[in-house]
Amino acid sequence: MSKQDEIYMRRCFELARKGLGFTRTNPLVGCVIAHGNRIIGEGYHHRFGGPHAEVLAIRSVQDPSLLPESVLYVNLEPCSHFGKTPPCSLLIQQKGIRKVVVSNEDPFYEVNGAGIRMLRESGAEVEVGLLREEGYEVNRRFFSYHRLKRPYIILKWAQTADGFIDLNRNPGDPIGPNWITDEVSRTLVHKWRTEEAGILIGTDTVIRDNPRLNVRQWTGSNPVRITIDRKGRLPDGLHLLDGSTQTVVFNCAPVRYSGKIRSIIIDHDFTLNELLGELFNMQIISVIVEGGRRLLDSFIKEGLWDEARVFTGRVVFSSGVRAPLLESKPVESINFHDNRLEYYRNKMNDLQH
Ligand SMILES: NC(=O)c1ccc[n+]([C@@H]2O[C@H](COP(=O)([O-])OP(=O)(O)OC[C@H]3O[C@@H](n4cnc5c(N)ncnc54)[C@H](OP(=O)(O)O)[C@@H]3O)[C@@H](O)[C@H]2O)c1
Repeated sequence: MSKQDEIYMRRCFELARKGLGFTRTNPLVGCVIAHGNRIIGEGYHHRFGGPHAEVLAIRSVQDPSLLPESVLYVNLEPCSHFGKTPPCSLLIQQKGIRKVVVSNEDPFYEVNGAGIRMLRESGAEVEVGLLREEGYEVNRRFFSYHRLKRPYIILKWAQTADGFIDLNRNPGDPIGPNWITDEVSRTLVHKWRTEEAGILIGTDTVIRDNPRLNVRQWTGSNPVRITIDRKGRLPDGLHLLDGSTQTVVFNCAPVRYSGKIRSIIIDHDFTLNELLGELFNMQIISVIVEGGRRLLDSFIKEGLWDEARVFTGRVVFSSGVRAPLLESKPVESINFHDNRLEYYRNKMNDLQH
């Protein structure tokens, strides 16, 4: 494969990422059609249920007579089944495209190599695996969901310069967060919320902070709000239980909620794997865990996380709730406005290796 092939595939990745937050539970897919050293068509999967990237790329070509001499680049194997739209492999074949370059095979059980086989059987030349690792990165939520049968897990917290996530609270203290980060960082967090299917927090964070957990400072859809209330400790009147947006509460005994709240009954001694299995069944492809300390610790202890995003603010608390500790080193560390932002990856769950 040449440098030019890599440029076209990277353009597919770039296009695919535009769908982040809109295509779930579908993957992010971008497609480029090149005739010689000229791109003659492009497309990406915009939203769940909408046309696939290959369909839009083919539609965008102004002179279809060029298609048989063109190469179609796509980051994910074209589909082979009749779902919401006819199979892309069939369309590629009908348009007479004879060469297809794919980055990743589709792990989805209805495709899983069948799209590539269908194309090869029709006589097309199919190259698979170009920039495979970068392709995994683009669709890491989708691949984790299908292979590990659980949502992709992102841990997120903000800590003070001296390593606390909150002040110690006494009974009667005001309810609400003690902010550590600035407004710009909080806007970024709202953007992140639009990118994930679910958002999970622990019982005590719900009680002490009374967060809304919806998206207000960015445009996009709200993640499903998720919490645990094993002992029926959540008081009435919480924002999280206002029924305004899809919410899931794991309870040990039946509870009646109104609005868009679903109660799921679990054992008192449930494991995080059981909880994640329920989220998998609800097609929650990814989840951002926004605290508190004990919930984050239990995910870390069980190695059940894929990435972590940690803000460190300038504020100093001197004492309080200690921030969780990750053994690994950050893979990236940047100054974000007034804060430090560190990204961690859990190599143990890295599907590439
Ligand atoms: N700075 C930040 O980024 C940030 C973010 C969020 C929260 N916070 C702060 O963190 C504090 C709350 O943290 P926290 O550690 O006290 O409480 P937490 O993690 O929010 O909630 C812990 C409680 O959740 C329940 N739980 C159920 N299953 C669990 C599991 N598998 N693992 C852990 N907990 C489980 C338990 O209550 P039951 O025994 O009743 O089941 C447990 O005591 C608050 O002060 C909040 O302000 C800070």
